[in-house]
Amino acid sequence: MIIAGNWKMYRGPDVHALAGLDAIVCPPYTRLRECVEAGLTTYAQNVHWEPEGAFTGEISAPMLLELGVAGSLVGHSERRQYFGETDLAVARRGAAALAAGLGVIACVGETAEQRESGATEAVLEIQVEAIAERCGAADGLVLAYEPVWAIGTGLTATPEIAQDAHAFIKSRLDVPVLYGGSVKPDNAAELLAQPDVDGALVGGASLDVESFKSICLTAARIRS
Ligand code: PGA
Repeated sequence: MIIAGNWKMYRGPDVHALAGLDAIVCPPYTRLRECVEAGLTTYAQNVHWEPEGAFTGEISAPMLLELGVAGSLVGHSERRQYFGETDLAVARRGAAALAAGLGVIACVGETAEQRESGATEAVLEIQVEAIAERCGAADGLVLAYEPVWAIGTGLTATPEIAQDAHAFIKSRLDVPVLYGGSVKPDNAAELLAQPDVDGALVGGASLDVESFKSICLTAARIRS
């Protein structure tokens, strides 16, 4: 069971309060070093596909490794939505990070319109295939199913919706799949109890130490 906290572009909690936690944290770039030094398993929020070059504003896998960072998110829906990241760009980022020895959490998920029009599986299929083509079922690769309509909205997929989507994703690429989208202490247990839900990618609730800890404890209880 993997619990990853995505702090997005927020400062995030006091790292000392997270010491000893068996979880991944995904802080902004400016706090990567602090999290590594505190002994936390630390992932970046994005990574470029080239090891170096003229790519202003980007960060490369060798740079992250130099900091002691263990992996990176790729393809978060906010990257896809607001920064025009394509399935190909996401797959290239993931493949380069894996090849460099970083872990990768690659995010996929449908919008509300896509779900309402019955296109969820078609959308997931395209997103997952792009990743599968470049990365395969690599060691170190984890997918995150994050329905866009559930991210930061307080709406959570029902356990049944999450389970169905996870099973579908695994039928296309057999790697662990985390659920993300308004995971909170009070809904974590029923989501994490689903057979194909292998953990959670937590945004808002990871900014609060107590709620993040509570989700991690729930995960540990379910796994044991
Ligand atoms: P949320 O964000 O938990 O605040 O919905 C999840 C994410 O964006 O990874």
